[in-house]
Parts: sequence; C-alpha cells; structure tokens
Amino acid sequence: MPEFKLSPSVLAADFSRLGEEAEAVEKAGAPYLHLDVMDGQFAPSFSLGIPVIESLRKRSGLLFDTHLMIEHPEHYLEAFAQAGSDLITVHVEACRHLDRVIREIHSLGKKAGVALNPATPVESVKHIASMVDMILLMTVNPGFGGQKYIPYCTRKIRELRQWLEEEKLDTDIQVDGGIGLDNVREVVSAGANVIVAGSAVFRGDPGENVQAFYRCIESM
Ligand code: DX5
Ligand code: ZN
Repeated sequence: MPEFKLSPSVLAADFSRLGEEAEAVEKAGAPYLHLDVMDGQFAPSFSLGIPVIESLRKRSGLLFDTHLMIEHPEHYLEAFAQAGSDLITVHVEACRHLDRVIREIHSLGKKAGVALNPATPVESVKHIASMVDMILLMTVNPGFGGQKYIPYCTRKIRELRQWLEEEKLDTDIQVDGGIGLDNVREVVSAGANVIVAGSAVFRGDPGENVQAFYRCIESM
C-alpha cells in the first residue's frame, strides 16, 4: 500500500489567519494541504477559490491538493493550475468527458485525481484508474466540514484497494469527510492512504493534531 499522508482541509481553518494555519500544519509535518472549492451548484455551499489559492501559494511549500466540487471543472483547470495547485481532483459526477479532463490536467503538468460521492459505485472509475494519480472516495456528501462519517464507505475503500491490488496498481486512495482520531485506523486498515481532515486538525491546536494523527497511524 502507498505511504500514509495527511491532507489537512483548510475549510475548517480560521480564514482570517489562513497563512499561519497552513504554516502550522506544514511545520508539524503534514505533506499536503486540502483546498475545497465549491460553486453552490455541484456542492450546496461556497468556499474558497483562485485568489485564495494564489495567496496561500506564496506562503506554503505544501503539496496543494485542490478538490473541485464544481460543475464544468474543465473550464477552470488552467486557472487552478496557474494559481498553484499541484494535484487537481475532479468529480466523476461533474465530468461528461472524464477521460479528456484527466488528460488535460496532466497536460498542464499537474497530478490528476478523480472523486466519487458516497453513493457513486467504485466501478465508475475502473477504466480510468490506471490514468490517475489518486482516487478520492468521499466519506460524507460534499458541501460542509464537520459532518459524520458514512459507515458503508469503509466497504467501498476495501473494495477499491482490493481491486487496485489485483490490477497491480498502487494508486493513492484519498478519503474525505468525518475522519478523526476515532476512525482513521478503520479507513487506513481498509486501504485508504491519503487522509483529509478538516475539523479534526483545525479545531484546537493544528500542529498538535497533525502529530496526533501520525502517532495514531504509527501505533497500528
Ligand atoms: C466536504 C469537503 C471536506 C471537508 C472535510 O465537502 O470536501 O474536505 O472539509 O471536513 P471534515 O474533516 O471536518 O469532515
Ligand atoms: Zn474535500
């Protein structure tokens, strides 16, 4: 299984101190920063966008993990790439021409991820799995931080990891939503290795929380 990585989601950070919040998780050893983009259409809320990513880029060396929860992501790939994203993840439910979108992300020199909502079957990514760098399994419905983990998603993670292993693919599986110290071992045991955590990192001391996640995984 590929290496464990924590991707703190700034959706739960204090937006008036975003630069400092990003620095705190970087100092504590988190390798990624998860940037949730919502358009009020695909996801029933709004969050951050291109100028915020551009500003953060000047202060952070983290891998920018941009999660596009928007309709027509194909119109904005170049803008999010130029803003400083390193990895751009699009939803299969939002892409009519998913294969083309993945190729476009790669042609911009960026890593490509595909995301599945909780109710979307794992089968929907099997034909393009070997093309992508990461598969994101949503473990809550997109839109808000602080929601509860949906239990049937553990089976989905296990099914996807098993299938990837059969295909001899060591693709990253990211999980996003409702993950904390109480259930991170469950999702990692099932086969996820890139863990998004918003509230569990930014509520309280972000640096200490990042370290607590690593301690929890190391003791598995
Ligand atoms: C939900 C977002 C998540 C969210 C996770 O639509 O994609 O990244 O920030 O937040 P927590 O960890 O609080 O569930
Ligand atoms: Zn996300």
